[in-house]
Amino acid sequence: MSEPILRLEGLRKAFNRGTPLENEVLHGIDLALSGGELTALIGPSGSGKSTLLNLIGLLDTPTAGELWLGGQPTRALDDAARTALRNRSLGFVFQFHHLIPAFNVLDNVLMPLMIRHGKPNAESLDRARALLAEVGLDGFAQKKAGELSGGQQQRVAIARALVTRPPLLLADEPTGNLDTRTADTVFELFERFNAQFGCAVLVVTHDPRLAARCTRQIELVDGRLQRDG
Ligand SMILES: Nc1ncnc2c1ncn2[C@@H]1O[C@H](COP(=O)(O)OP(=O)(O)OP(=O)(O)O)[C@@H](O)[C@H]1O
Ligand SMILES: [Mg+2]
Repeated sequence: MSEPILRLEGLRKAFNRGTPLENEVLHGIDLALSGGELTALIGPSGSGKSTLLNLIGLLDTPTAGELWLGGQPTRALDDAARTALRNRSLGFVFQFHHLIPAFNVLDNVLMPLMIRHGKPNAESLDRARALLAEVGLDGFAQKKAGELSGGQQQRVAIARALVTRPPLLLADEPTGNLDTRTADTVFELFERFNAQFGCAVLVVTHDPRLAARCTRQIELVDGRLQRDG
């Protein structure tokens, strides 16, 4: 088997270390994801799903264990190297979307490409516009992101996360604000990126219907992986 896009070994995360409030949220997570997989991460509220995604997204650091992204161990990397690896390897749809509200929709989607290559060329613009159409936001390109509804902003964030065709897409409740039909459309987009670009997807969802559509389901309960299959 080829090198997994993601590998976790003994990953732990404690908050408020060394204080009376110290709280270990992840208790040693082992996991490998390969390029072709579309994986659902399920589990009760507070079980540590977002904490785990933030670690995988290199937005936070584990208290123990190691995390390999595309074969690269990440524990010893400095901030600049983490940022570069994140931009190269990952797309991230946050539970709360983090758009730049004063920028228009198109510029929000183009942002990861501009970070990589500077001023967007015609191909970047086409790609961003096509993604906006796919998430049902044709005609919203010039609107300010801050003036969109929650569900519309969530879809902009999904387009932004996919615009670089990342080897690994992390999506934290990406369809939480969406009606069933729009959620289906977003999921079809994930399936297409998975099939067409070999983009591995790790998606947190509370929706059993969407979880069942994934090729693999993993469950986090009280900071431990319970189920894998
Ligand atoms: N920055 C932080 N400082 C202290 N505790 C935190 C922090 N972030 C998360 N926690 C705690 O870690 C636990 C897991 O939180 P997390 O957000 O990962 O859960 P979740 O599975 O994503 O839940 P939900 O389904 O509600 O989004 C919770 O008890 C939470 O209070
Ligand atoms: Mg969460």
